[in-house]
Amino acid sequence: MDVTPLAEGFGAELRGVDLIDVAASDAAYRAVRALFEEHSLLVFRDQQVGDDVQAAFSRAFGPLERVKVGSVGTGTFYSRLNNLDAEGRVVPENHRQVWRARANQLWHTDSSFKATPALASVLSARTLPGAGGETEFTSTRRAWDRLPAARQERLRDAVVTHSYANSRDQIHPELMTPEERAALPPVRWRMSWRNPVNGRRALYVASHAYAIEGMGDNEAKALLAELIAEATAPGRTYLHRWRAGDVVMWDNRATMHRGRPWPLAEPRIMVRTTIQARDEDGLRELRPAA
Ligand SMILES: [Fe+2]
Repeated sequence: MDVTPLAEGFGAELRGVDLIDVAASDAAYRAVRALFEEHSLLVFRDQQVGDDVQAAFSRAFGPLERVKVGSVGTGTFYSRLNNLDAEGRVVPENHRQVWRARANQLWHTDSSFKATPALASVLSARTLPGAGGETEFTSTRRAWDRLPAARQERLRDAVVTHSYANSRDQIHPELMTPEERAALPPVRWRMSWRNPVNGRRALYVASHAYAIEGMGDNEAKALLAELIAEATAPGRTYLHRWRAGDVVMWDNRATMHRGRPWPLAEPRIMVRTTIQARDEDGLRELRPAA
């Protein structure tokens, strides 16, 4: 296996790995898992990936999340991110699928708004537009490391509230259905997520985060915006330009990402599988005291 770093301090492309082998071989899984823990973002090129291979690979890392109510693929393991309607036609500009794509263009970490947050996401390219549609990443582990020690001390165990509505309402007031709102009440997490394998902390905030316990609303929003801006400043991100056959996996504990726009007349079809975090992934420590 050949490991090529992608960005300053995070991300690696792995060559000589077939995802189906990771699903089938414990030794291959352990090698990739160690690189995942270290690099936070893994890129695999030239894969032959359909839903089954993607799920089998993902499942090696932990239990798969079921797609939530209100998303395409609801109830299955496959979140279908595309700009198509139910008949497979490219949707017009003012369509829910386009609002969803815009919401994905806010800096976020997947599933921080869920009762069980995500360890990792696996995204495969199925149909790509001729231009745009990149995915941009940053390391929130690096962001944490850049904070002064006194600030780390103050923020480490701060309790942050995350809600899907906070990010979706920034895009369109009708993006979330009443069923989604009812199914996704706000959740609370500590502001840093400690990786139990290497002991490194990462800042755990995102577009879903909106309140901090013991802090006024405006002050909390300003602090969250500042932390996200610092984490995603120019020179601190990696822009993944998708090619056919690409599969990208990231650690939602230690990264944020955002989609980038593309010409909306062109189809873009991506499939995401998401692995739930477990206590052994550091989830126990992330939970605030009741
Ligand atoms: Fe995402």
